[in-house]
Amino acid sequence: MKKNTYDELITGSLLHQSVTERLDVTATNAPIELDHELIDLILDLYDDDRDFPFQKIRKFSITEILTYLQATHRYYLTKKLPEIEQSLLHIFSRYGKTHELLAELCLFFNAYKNDLIEHIKMEEREFFPYIKKLLKATQGELSAEEISDMLAKASIAQFTDHHDSIEDELMEVSQIIKRYSEFETMPLPYSIFLNQVQIFELELRKHAIIEDHVLVPMAKELEEKLKTA
Ligand SMILES: [Fe+2]
Ligand SMILES: [Fe+2]
Repeated sequence: MKKNTYDELITGSLLHQSVTERLDVTATNAPIELDHELIDLILDLYDDDRDFPFQKIRKFSITEILTYLQATHRYYLTKKLPEIEQSLLHIFSRYGKTHELLAELCLFFNAYKNDLIEHIKMEEREFFPYIKKLLKATQGELSAEEISDMLAKASIAQFTDHHDSIEDELMEVSQIIKRYSEFETMPLPYSIFLNQVQIFELELRKHAIIEDHVLVPMAKELEEKLKTA
């Protein structure tokens, strides 16, 4: 049976390459060192997220999880989004004048990109710094007053209430393209674009699983500890 790109991504070396690649994309150009066991667990999660052993991944420090998630954010902003945009530009240069669908697709993707950037910025500006502060507090680096002030102003619950499934919106892309291909066969650049978007959707889904089922429970534990101290 011929494998499609999705299968190749989740089973083959492409997956390993994509997970390790994000650790090379850093602001300072120095690659990020992450425990190999952690990388292997993340790869397992990409492979299959049913019955994933969350306890195993939780033995790593919250700092390591944050490092991975931040590297992933950077990877999305500096590599994945530009790549997808490049494909869209390519389609535009070839079919821009003839395909009405394209305008809809461009509008959608632009709006989506802005939503995703906002989502990531919120996490980088508010959520992650709050967790880092929780960590400092449990390590005795904050005064009692600073701790109560911090706990009064923010909470993990506040974040989880607003942590939307940004990946779900991406399904709209395939709906737009499919609507169009009911009438005509889909030109190759569209299939390539669709494929990239679907892989990205899978990426974002796994990323959200790590945030919701690894990072959040770890951070809640810290928060609880401080509240009951
Ligand atoms: Fe994120
Ligand atoms: Fe998120």
